[in-house]
Amino acid sequence: MNDPAFEARIASLRARIETVLDRALALPDSATAQLRAAMRYSTLDGGKRLRPILVYASGAACGAAPELLDAPAAAVEMIHVYSLIHDDLPAMDDDDLRRGRATCHRAFDEPTALLAGDALQAHAFEVLATAGPASMPADVRLALVRELAAAIGTSGMAGGQAIDLEAVGRTLDLASLENMHRRKTGALIRASVLLGAIAAGVGSGARHAALARYGAEIGLAFQIQDDVLDVEGSTAALGKLPGADAARAKPTYPSLVGLEDARRLAQAARDRAIDALAPLGSAGGELAQLARYVVSREQ
Ligand code: IPE
Ligand code: IPE
Ligand code: MG
Ligand code: MG
Ligand code: MG
Repeated sequence: MNDPAFEARIASLRARIETVLDRALALPDSATAQLRAAMRYSTLDGGKRLRPILVYASGAACGAAPELLDAPAAAVEMIHVYSLIHDDLPAMDDDDLRRGRATCHRAFDEPTALLAGDALQAHAFEVLATAGPASMPADVRLALVRELAAAIGTSGMAGGQAIDLEAVGRTLDLASLENMHRRKTGALIRASVLLGAIAAGVGSGARHAALARYGAEIGLAFQIQDDVLDVEGSTAALGKLPGADAARAKPTYPSLVGLEDARRLAQAARDRAIDALAPLGSAGGELAQLARYVVSREQ
C-alpha cells in the first residue's frame, strides 16, 4: 500500500469493526455455549475485513457518519464468515486451515460448524434490521435487508457456490468462470459497497449506479486475485493452504488462462472499477485506493 494515511485509516476501520463484531456476538445463553463459541471463534480477531471496510469507505464517500455504518458493516462480515465456515466443510472445499487457525469444523465439529454458519447468517439480518440509530428510516432498513439478501441467494453467493461445486473437474469457458466469480464472491462485495451507500441515503441515482458498477468490478478482481494467490501465495501470508484449487480440480482463472493473463484480467477489472467512480469526483479517492489494494494484496 505504501501510503501511511491510507494504512492508518484501514487499521482504524479494522479496530472499529472488531469492537462492533465483539459486541454483536455477545449473545448470552448458557444452553448454546458451544454454538456461540464457534461463532465467535470464526468471526473475531482474523481476516482482512475488506467487506466492512468497503461499507465504511462507501458510506463515507456518500457522506454518512460511521455510527450509521456499524450495523451494515457487521452484517456483511458475519455473512462472509458464515460463507467461509460452510465453504471449508468436507462437503464443499474440505479445508483444515482458515485465517491461520483450524477451520471451524476442525476446531469444533461439523454439526456445530453448520449451525454456526446458519446462526451467523440469521444474526446478520437481525443486526441489519434492528441495530444502529433509531432514526434510521424503515424504508432504508428494508433496502439494506433486500440488497444483502439478493446478494447471497441463488443469483449471488449461494448460486455461485453451487456452480463452483458442479464445475469441479470440468473446464468452464471464460464467460461461465466470470459468471461464477461474480456470483460467489463478487455479489457480496458489491452489496458491501451498496450497503454503505444505502445507509448514507444514496439508494438510487448516478452515485448509486456508479458504486454498483465499482463494487461488481472489484468483486470480480478480488476473486481472480484469490485464485492467483492460491497458486503463488504462502500459507504464512494467506492463513490458508495454497494449492487447494489445483488439488481439487477447481476451475480458476490461472487454470484456464494462465497466471499472467489472470493477473491482467484482475487489473482490467480494477481499472473498470476505478473508471466507474468518476461521478463521485474526489470523494471516490479512498475507494480507488481500495480497488488497487484488491489486486496488489498478497494475503
Ligand atoms: C476469502 O475471502 C474467500 C473469498 C471469497 C475469496 P477473504 O480473502 O476476504 O478472507 P478473509 O476475510 O480475509 O479471511
Ligand atoms: C470462496 O471461494 C467463495 C465463498 C463464497 C466463500 P474460495 O473457495 O476460493 O475461497 P477460499 O480460497 O477457500 O478462501
Ligand atoms: Mg470454495
Ligand atoms: Mg474454499
Ligand atoms: Mg480460493
